[in-house]
Amino acid sequence: MSGFGRDGSGRATLGGRALFELRAEAGVGTPAYFYDLDAVADATRELCAAFGAAPGFVAYAVKANTAGSIVRAVAQAGGGADVVSGGELRVALGAGVGPERIVMSGVAKQDWELDLAIGHGIRAIQLESVEEIPRVAARARALGKTARVSLRINPDVEIDSHAHIATGHDEAKFGIVARDLPTAFEAIGRGATALALDGLSTHVGSMLTTPTPYLESARVVCSAARELRARGKPLAFVDLGGGFGIDYGGAPVEPPPAFVRAALGLLAEQGLGDLALVVEPGRSLVAPFGVLVASVVQSKTSGTRRWCMIDAGMNDLIRPALYGARHRIEPVERAPSAPEWQVVGPVCESSDDFGLHPLGGELPGVVVLRDAGAYGFTMASEYNGRPLPAEVFVAGGKVAHVSRSPGVEAWVERRLGA
Ligand code: LLP
Repeated sequence: MSGFGRDGSGRATLGGRALFELRAEAGVGTPAYFYDLDAVADATRELCAAFGAAPGFVAYAVKANTAGSIVRAVAQAGGGADVVSGGELRVALGAGVGPERIVMSGVAKQDWELDLAIGHGIRAIQLESVEEIPRVAARARALGKTARVSLRINPDVEIDSHAHIATGHDEAKFGIVARDLPTAFEAIGRGATALALDGLSTHVGSMLTTPTPYLESARVVCSAARELRARGKPLAFVDLGGGFGIDYGGAPVEPPPAFVRAALGLLAEQGLGDLALVVEPGRSLVAPFGVLVASVVQSKTSGTRRWCMIDAGMNDLIRPALYGARHRIEPVERAPSAPEWQVVGPVCESSDDFGLHPLGGELPGVVVLRDAGAYGFTMASEYNGRPLPAEVFVAGGKVAHVSRSPGVEAWVERRLGA
């Protein structure tokens, strides 16, 4: 694994190559995302290896980064996919993920999305409400197929994370709470041949720093699994979700394989060791291996405050504005040094602020925003008339693929034509 680093002269590198060289090789302006595909593949392989001989698979949460190059790298390294829309499902299939390794979550799956999932016979449509059950059964009947499904359980577990990314408490819109499970089992029974209940799933939230809350929600799933088995229903898998955190420069977190090993230990302890384990990591497979490169456009000193205005904004990377997230920002050409500058984007919102960063006495021309491989480009917008950024994919220390920014011209034409 490699991702971001610095060479002997202090210049920022990605996948072992100087970023400024990669940028010249790719011929892109700024802002631009750069990803280390080898590191993504390594992280995937490492997580798959944590399963040992136990049955199961890694279903990469495609929402973290939907780029074909990324999904292909994950698939070639042995990963599957967790998708939440027909669009993501098509990307996963198109990138070579076999239907056997695809699960689909989402609280409002539309009929065409269900039809696509059922038509391809994906591993499981994860049902998020009792009311969704007859809808999926009806779509399967219309297609003359049996839909393989799982019930997503809302485990009612609180996690120590930002409220926007906690999903497993009982006021969240996700999943079926324990008291509604008997009704859900009955509804599945009425689905008869149209539905095959193969698994139970959950996802407690994002940015977990230890397996403790993961195991807490897993216990709820295990007890439902035992209950189902007691009723004579066979089950093939449990999907315990994703949420493995990464270190954004604040505090170390437990590595993803520790979550898989802990989950396998729990399944064995609960007498469910024959069930396949599915996990749905997004962030941990891509975030540390992507950066956003931006140019310094303007500086301003006012009183004691030093402002540094860059050409990447909340439209390119919304995490700081939306969750108060911190992404380390450093010069590309040299190591970070005092003093700190308040780095902000160009967007006309006060929340377009990336915080204080050690850019040095004299501002660099180009900076790098670290750990931006997940929920960066996928959450980007064209707000304030700013086109989507370029993306550069690096493999073997070389530019393997460039996805160019559509550019301002295209944006202007589209808006004028609207
Ligand atoms: N499975 C399900 C059902 C999910 O909803 C999610 C994320 C994942 C798996 C993957 O979680 P991860 O391993 O990436 O934590 N935009 C936010 C994160 C939102 C996560 C939404 N669901 C951020 O930038 O922090």
